[in-house]
Amino acid sequence: MKLNIAVLPGDGIGPEVTAQALKVLKAIAMEFNHVFTFKTALLGASAIEQTGNPLPEETIDCCEKADAILFGAIGNTSYDLDPNAKIRPEQGLLGIRKALGLYTNIRPIISYEDLLNKSSLKVKQIKDTNILIYRELTGGIYFGKRTLSENGNTASDTCEYNRFEIERIAHLAFKSAQSRKQKLTLVDKANVLESSRLWRRVVQEIALQYPKVETHYMYIDNAAMQLIINPKQFDVILTENMFGDILSEEASVIVGSIGLLASASIGDKHAMFEPIHGAYSKAANKGIANPIASILSAAMLLDHFGLNDEAALVREGVDKSLKLHITTPDLNTKYDNITTTKVGDFIEDFIHNPDETNLNFTNIHLGQSTII
Ligand code: IPM
Ligand code: MG
Repeated sequence: MKLNIAVLPGDGIGPEVTAQALKVLKAIAMEFNHVFTFKTALLGASAIEQTGNPLPEETIDCCEKADAILFGAIGNTSYDLDPNAKIRPEQGLLGIRKALGLYTNIRPIISYEDLLNKSSLKVKQIKDTNILIYRELTGGIYFGKRTLSENGNTASDTCEYNRFEIERIAHLAFKSAQSRKQKLTLVDKANVLESSRLWRRVVQEIALQYPKVETHYMYIDNAAMQLIINPKQFDVILTENMFGDILSEEASVIVGSIGLLASASIGDKHAMFEPIHGAYSKAANKGIANPIASILSAAMLLDHFGLNDEAALVREGVDKSLKLHITTPDLNTKYDNITTTKVGDFIEDFIHNPDETNLNFTNIHLGQSTII
């Protein structure tokens, strides 16, 4: 298959984790005879530095022409500490999501057998967790009207949704639930918010078209608690933009590190694949950033094009790296010399040689592998 992939490394740890995902995609292309071409474009703080614009026109153009987009991370602490900044890196990410119509963000939350003891939660609670969060990505309070009064003392952000925006993601979430454990939970705040009551009304109607799916309704405050107490009760979670942002980050505690969580942002014409973590500027260029979220985002990209064997091989490589403790410090207690690049090298090598005869699998323990 021929794929043109736009690469937006972004800020902070974005470039170094994305570099590992690219290694992995190149290894897949080689092993499976695909032709992947990559074109890099600017986004976020790095784009502001070079062009004054967090989302330059050339970036939109490059993404529109691509078959898929691989995005790294966005943000910079200097902007975080300056609430008066008019131009912000995040405008780049929100802008590209909107410009490409990426209205559905899918975030898998899957616990790994080998990492159960890395979570601060109890093993018996998190074992076998497998949730898909469907987060609406181009509406709600992220994109509603904002105001700031002249004297600067009053501000507002509007959370607005229309029926169409809810319907299109709800259908995708119900279809997904149908092919899984047939359970969908709408998370909202319908006891308070009018926009949430619209979500509930529309989802109740759509649920009738999916009679095999058991539909549940839960308030966000309760869902935040239930996710920690008993994550296994969830199959597909459907929710609006900001609730999804918060819940998915909370859910990373179940998996063991936010550095493991990947996502796919899908629209009718375009698709972007992005780790759910931020730019973590303090960790940039130290070799400590976990590249697995980016590598698993690349696996989601492969799945999106029906390259399921390829995606499965990438995931096997990730599993193997976790099993052998070839992981960055956020997860590792066994080795202290495993960098972002080494994790990428290991998974790349796995793709070329996944057989148990691969000496890197055994020699790591002897300190004699060619990777570590
Ligand atoms: C995410 C991030 C972004 C969001 C930020 C960087 C704008 O937190 O993808 O979860 O809030 O959507
Ligand atoms: Mg977030």
